[in-house]
Amino acid sequence: MAKGNSQVSRLDSKSTNRDGELAQTTLLLGRPPISIPEVVLAPEEGPATVISVVNQKGGVGKTTTTINLGAALAELGRRVLLVDFDSQASMTIGLGIRPFENEQYGSIWYLLNDPQADIREAILKSNVPGMDFIRGHEDLAAAEARFVSEIAKEHKLRKLLAPIINDYDVILIDCSPSLGTLTVNALTASHGVIIPMECEFFAIHGLSLVKETIQIIKSNTNPELKIFGILATRFDRKTAHSREVLELIANQFPDEVFDTIIARTIRFSESTSQGEPITTFASSSVGALSYRRLARELIYRGDSK
Ligand SMILES: Nc1ncnc2c1ncn2[C@@H]1O[C@H](COP(=O)(O)OP(=O)(O)OP(=O)(O)O)[C@@H](O)[C@H]1O
Ligand SMILES: [Mg+2]
Repeated sequence: MAKGNSQVSRLDSKSTNRDGELAQTTLLLGRPPISIPEVVLAPEEGPATVISVVNQKGGVGKTTTTINLGAALAELGRRVLLVDFDSQASMTIGLGIRPFENEQYGSIWYLLNDPQADIREAILKSNVPGMDFIRGHEDLAAAEARFVSEIAKEHKLRKLLAPIINDYDVILIDCSPSLGTLTVNALTASHGVIIPMECEFFAIHGLSLVKETIQIIKSNTNPELKIFGILATRFDRKTAHSREVLELIANQFPDEVFDTIIARTIRFSESTSQGEPITTFASSSVGALSYRRLARELIYRGDSK
């Protein structure tokens, strides 16, 4: 599964050569550029870093980020597990499972409901070496009502992942566009959060709600939870509006905003409809290079193994 260091360096230098074309917060705002090391060392031993990809606003790039950041981390030799924690099951479909094939049996919903279920049996291999996933299912929509009176219902996902935590370096959880029971479970199971944010004015107001939820989780179920970063997505270099919003985010959250920005490109929709990450569908596209840079940035910041 894990790749050797020679391959890591090759992929890295490919990304770095193209960095000049990629949107970066520092460069766009005329700030001193951040240099992210080209060579990424092999991950340390020990349990996986668990990361929730969260924003209650819909369509901001959570699923796209989960799939493509996961694929980029796997290229860097990380053993990656993706969990589709959304009843829309977009991640599952984006990894090539057709909706009519997506049975409840073997999905994360099935695992949450059957205490005897073996999580290892539900793990599927993606087309990216080193990247596995657990399917989502439409019945996850019933979670709110189903778990309402359960004791310790916030800890269900954390307990579910415990037996396989040492089998992976990174576990990414694709959350639904809400801050309900499922997302509370994801945040309780996580070390940190990535918040994809569309570069559009109303998105900033939504951020305070995500941050409040994180504070509530920290005070109640997971004191160690961190914000690993805010990721500007669907950025359009041609509009002054995208840039103004980026500047607002960077001024309000200077330590949190990632330097790597994900620009708007049709390639993401195209790759999803083909059921594969952009890193394999259009390996040298700007979108693929951006997610590879994000993977290196996350490791460089110490937020991923
Ligand atoms: N950087 C981008 N440029 C252009 N299109 C994008 C970009 N990122 C995502 N998209 C597209 O936007 C749509 C929504 O993206 P995605 O599903 O990742 O968002 P989401 O936050 O997971 O949505 P939801 O809240 O419904 O789960 C998809 O069609 C996706 O292909
Ligand atoms: Mg989604």
